[in-house]
Amino acid sequence: MKKKIAFALSLVMLTGLFAGCAPKEPTPTQAANPDPAVSEPAAEVKTYNIGVSIYQFNDNFMTLYRNELESYFKSKETDTVKYNVVTQDGKNDMAEQTNQINNFITQGMDLIICNPVQTSSADTLIDLAVDAGIPMVLINREPLGVDADGNTVDESYPGIVDNAEVCYVGADARQSGTYQGEIVRDLADKGDINGDGKVSYVMIIGDPENPDAQYRTEFSIKALTDAGIEVEELVSNIGNWDTAQGQQIAQNALNQFGDKIDVIFCNNDGMALGAATAIEQAGRKVGEDIYLLGVDALEECQKMVKDGTMTGTVLNDHIGQSHKAVDVGIELLEGKSIENYYWVDYVKVDANYVK
Ligand code: BGC
Repeated sequence: MKKKIAFALSLVMLTGLFAGCAPKEPTPTQAANPDPAVSEPAAEVKTYNIGVSIYQFNDNFMTLYRNELESYFKSKETDTVKYNVVTQDGKNDMAEQTNQINNFITQGMDLIICNPVQTSSADTLIDLAVDAGIPMVLINREPLGVDADGNTVDESYPGIVDNAEVCYVGADARQSGTYQGEIVRDLADKGDINGDGKVSYVMIIGDPENPDAQYRTEFSIKALTDAGIEVEELVSNIGNWDTAQGQQIAQNALNQFGDKIDVIFCNNDGMALGAATAIEQAGRKVGEDIYLLGVDALEECQKMVKDGTMTGTVLNDHIGQSHKAVDVGIELLEGKSIENYYWVDYVKVDANYVK
């Protein structure tokens, strides 16, 4: 009996000894909360990796867009969910962008957000993501489907509608073109500022393969002709969304056509800023002998509309669009099912516009 007690005692002592030697690394939760009764296991942090490819960084509107996209992702972080966003410059080069998407795939990104350099090559990029099983949100440049007669069809681009984890977030560019035309239509002289009975215009185009450019060009004029206004195109030229090119095109047109020009329509504000400089240099005055229209409603252009140095612009809601792209991206990361198309409205910005 004595022997048994002695053995039991030494066992207890040994256990105590080992327990004393065992490493005593407190878990973070224990350290923060010394009361073992309420201690919980440390929360796990999940980090999602997101690859973003922007068609080119050197674009006024897309710069606002990508900055907002990144800061909205940050605002969505919690103690347990983080978003590691890697944004790259496509440099307006399809080969460069294809490389970026391939690298995103090799790096095992959880989500890809893509602002395609060429909408006509969107399928190649979509296929890469789909084959790798990575969800993709396309933004700002809508790839268009084509029907049997060769007409473009919205909301039916096969690469988008055929894939449950691919979607497009954007704005309907026809609306922005229509708004530009309506701003001119609603002027007291209906845009015929030189009073020769027709609206003679210069059209400065973004880039010919971008639906935003195509629709704005078409629908701005359609809003005038639908209202029974006679129009005459004096110049139609490509400015690649760029301020310097917009200025050059406007300058050439003003040299060539002078007072014949009633309106300069620009597919975006970037080019309208250039046209505004050309107008000033030519000694012309917006609202007095010429009209000037843009799209995007950049801060500086909103100010110009207020002070009369620009006739009007159309708010291209980069905040609404980038937030929608992030929200739907997060739904994809969480494995939720999504729609294929998400649309954000444009807003008309003329002299009556109140923010
Ligand atoms: C904007 C332009 C921009 C283009 C880029 C358009 O929606 O209005 O300012 O250059 O997107 O794709």
